Amino acid sequence: MAETLWQRRHVLSLADFSREECELVLQTAASFREVLSRRTKKVPTLQGKVVANLFFEPSTRTRNSFELAAKRLSADILNFAPGTSALVKGETLLDTARTFLAMGADILVVRHQASGVPLTIARAMDAWGGTVSVLNAGDGRHQHPSQALLDLFTMCSHVQPDRPTVAAMVGQKVAIVGDILHSRVARSNLYSLRACGAEVHLAGPPTLLPAEFASFGVTVHHRLAPALTDANFVMALRLQAERMTAALLPSLEEYHREFGITRDRLRQCAPGVQILHPGPANRGVEVESTLLEDPQFSLVDKQVTAGVAVRMALLYLLGLAADRLP
Ligand code: CP
Repeated sequence: MAETLWQRRHVLSLADFSREECELVLQTAASFREVLSRRTKKVPTLQGKVVANLFFEPSTRTRNSFELAAKRLSADILNFAPGTSALVKGETLLDTARTFLAMGADILVVRHQASGVPLTIARAMDAWGGTVSVLNAGDGRHQHPSQALLDLFTMCSHVQPDRPTVAAMVGQKVAIVGDILHSRVARSNLYSLRACGAEVHLAGPPTLLPAEFASFGVTVHHRLAPALTDANFVMALRLQAERMTAALLPSLEEYHREFGITRDRLRQCAPGVQILHPGPANRGVEVESTLLEDPQFSLVDKQVTAGVAVRMALLYLLGLAADRLP
């Protein structure tokens, strides 16, 4: 099935991801989750392939889980740190990418603070010939595909623990709360959740949630209560101080008062509601601090764990494409 369904050399955005592709990633991740539960957590799938982690912006979860995923698949891994690279001597982004191409990298995992950088590198790779894949690990406020796919896997696994499928999301109300404007996580989740039949509600102050988001086929709220009512999942987003270009909030205290997820507010959600957060969290701002570790309500640790299996799935599918696509 994977051979016929997967036709992508690059994963840059979820905008055109079909329900079937989401399902394929989920099923592949589920099989790698099984591998990760064994005593020997390693398979030879990407033996001889080179995965290069090009992180131009800081990351804890994404960078390390891509590294672990590549190692579990037996790939060779190159980790690039901009501060100790030739970038500080003025090397251009594309010259850096070309250097990894010349070293024989097969998959470039790219994170950058500017939207569109992974696409620019992917176009250059295609123009230079060869079969190098580019995987967007988060670009500016544009997209974060692997995060949304691990979120999907986590939610589906909560509903269907043994054999998660995307059908688990049909009719589930998902409230995404907070700084939607600057969030690549929200933008990727909008596409995957809608493709899989979830009912998506966005909530945030008008300065962080422009009304245009309604054009994505979701419901936009500038108050928290209607978004939380009967929600099955609540995804709180980090306030992204590093991407705010103006004073968009009166204060963090007022934000927490209006949009913070608290135990009290969760009472209006559906029974069994679960909280997600892509991390890193501003504790006590987006979510009441102790909720983040509360096993009754929080899927946050499970999201991080799921990240390895989902990223193994993406690396595997791109490795498959390199051997097959013209
Ligand atoms: N969710 C996420 O992208 O976290 P990192 O910035 O730690 O990778």
